[in-house]
Amino acid sequence: MTTLHFVLPDGSSRDVPATPGHSLMETAISNGVPGIVAECAGSLACATCHVFVDEAIASRLGGPEGAEDEMLDFAAVERRPLSRLGCQVKIEDWMDGATITVPETQV
Ligand code: FES
Repeated sequence: MTTLHFVLPDGSSRDVPATPGHSLMETAISNGVPGIVAECAGSLACATCHVFVDEAIASRLGGPEGAEDEMLDFAAVERRPLSRLGCQVKIEDWMDGATITVPETQV
């Protein structure tokens, strides 16, 4: 099983099961991780699924491109080098134990 470690804005954290092929956003929503709004349900039109991935994910997947890269400019919390839209990152087996940080706000 793949487990993701979500760090929340209040400093607490949650380890949640993740299914390869699902997105970070879907995983957060289905496990009740607070702080992920996902207004557009994954259609790349809201930037309310903004997360900060860890270095391992960033180095293996590379940074955001195209429409995701543009949409990140509209995130409520200013984007950082490890910013991604959670709906655009698909879970893979090697992500087991990865840390995903939820920004302070999405709106
Ligand atoms: S859920 Fe809207 S951009 Fe990801």
